[in-house]
Amino acid sequence: MSAEQPIPLLQVRDLSVSYLSNGTEKLVLEKVDLEVGTGETVGVLGESGCGKTTMALSLLRLLPANAHVRSGRITFGSQNLLELDRDQLNQVRGREIGFVFQEPLLALNPLMRIESQLCEGMRHHLHLSKNAARARAISLLERVGITDGRWCLEAYPHQISGGMRQRVLIATALSCEPKLLICDEPSSSLDRPTQLKLMETLAQLKQSRDLSILLISHDLDLISRIADRTLFIEAGVCRERTG
Ligand SMILES: Nc1ncnc2c1ncn2[C@@H]1O[C@H](COP(=O)(O)OP(=O)(O)OP(=O)(O)O)[C@@H](O)[C@H]1O
Ligand SMILES: [Mg+2]
Repeated sequence: MSAEQPIPLLQVRDLSVSYLSNGTEKLVLEKVDLEVGTGETVGVLGESGCGKTTMALSLLRLLPANAHVRSGRITFGSQNLLELDRDQLNQVRGREIGFVFQEPLLALNPLMRIESQLCEGMRHHLHLSKNAARARAISLLERVGITDGRWCLEAYPHQISGGMRQRVLIATALSCEPKLLICDEPSSSLDRPTQLKLMETLAQLKQSRDLSILLISHDLDLISRIADRTLFIEAGVCRERTG
């Protein structure tokens, strides 16, 4: 690699993933290549069922037990994520890579107040006291567009709107200042005006030079609003979208 081409923050090479169900193995991703540079926002586009979530979950080794990574190398910084042990992986998850899951209600525990869920990572990874984590949580909520942070922290997930839940998840994913934010369909359950507002929030986060974003969606219009580059997954194969 030449001096003008810095090593990308995230580099996926030759990633092939299959699922075993009812005794049959189905190949979902075939030799996928992907790169995200520091400060770059990359969109991943594709129809429902094409393998976007599978690809995202592979990055953090969160695939279900019936999934099989048949080949590939996933390099994040200088680490091959596929070779990390559990402790090393826990350090990367939530700390260096923030993940916003596709379904906000499933990603939030309905029995816990927002405060406990949002502060958990900061207390664990950053060793913050309860009060320090709470103060930081309020500023994180403000950063993602929730001005009434104190009220939000007291609430349970069902008491806040869908748009707010997604913002809480983004704030949680950002809570330990990750280098990479992966958003899997962050707005698919929201109405159009709320989707657009959420994209504005992501666009503002993009201004922070060092944050890289991998934004997954089936909605080209939404992705084009903020992505520097867009990749397209079709029939398990990933390619750069041109034009
Ligand atoms: N746990 C699983 N076991 C078996 N097959 C699975 C499993 N999870 C996903 N699949 C299949 O793998 C393919 C890719 O699924 P995936 O969820 O990655 O697609 P997606 O692009 O994220 O779809 P969507 O846009 O609907 O979120 C689909 O055909 C899906 O049915
Ligand atoms: Mg999906």
